[in-house]
Amino acid sequence: MDKLIIAIDGPASSGKSTTAKLLAEKLGYLYIDTGAMYRAITLMALRNNIVNNQEEIIKLARNLDIELKFENGQISVFVDGVDVSEDIRSLEVSNNVSPISKIEEVRKILVEKQRLMGKNGGVVMEGRDITTVVFPNADVKIFLTATIDERAKRRVKEYHSKGIDIDFEKVVENIKERDRIDSSREVSPLKKSDDAIEIDTSYLTIDQQVNAILEKVNEVLSKRINNKAGS
Ligand code: DC
Repeated sequence: MDKLIIAIDGPASSGKSTTAKLLAEKLGYLYIDTGAMYRAITLMALRNNIVNNQEEIIKLARNLDIELKFENGQISVFVDGVDVSEDIRSLEVSNNVSPISKIEEVRKILVEKQRLMGKNGGVVMEGRDITTVVFPNADVKIFLTATIDERAKRRVKEYHSKGIDIDFEKVVENIKERDRIDSSREVSPLKKSDDAIEIDTSYLTIDQQVNAILEKVNEVLSKRINNKAGS
């Protein structure tokens, strides 16, 4: 059976990771969290005290070996062989990641890696520019949205599940600021492409979200089978 490229974009905490992970598991596909790659560079820039030095950040992005592993429904992120999966989710990284992901050269380096990771299909890739830049010809293109309130609630819950207490208003501010930067940047801003299917996840269960995309995947696969049978 054909192995598809499924591209999912959307703002922070719109449900992308949860949906993409489950979808990848159900289909036996690879899950690629591109935000984790921007976060990994941000973490290392913070550790090296170079968050305000574009040239150094670009050098870092070129030289870092970023590896994503997807096993048993969990994604792990390794930088130069070291597991940074937890560290890249800190509020400090969240607060610094958008300015770093605005740097054109950093994007070029990561987009190239992402295209290599997905080129053989059998992937669910999520981020901000997957449907528009990384794989504009993806087999299935999805744009997820949700209200700010709902997205902030999800983020707070995620922190609580890790035993971290966080102020709701601070999370709202961080989400709003990231939306502003991610949507208004010059290079590859977050936007819905005309041919992407928009799904508002505010009032959907995770299963409903995943099933809505699975329906689309099955449609594409059936069309392929019919086309092959007819040719
Ligand atoms: O999905 P996330 O919240 O972990 O992403 C972190 C940041 O990385 C996000 O604020 C913008 C950036 N990003 C991006 O610019 N392009 C992508 N494809 C994925 C993430």
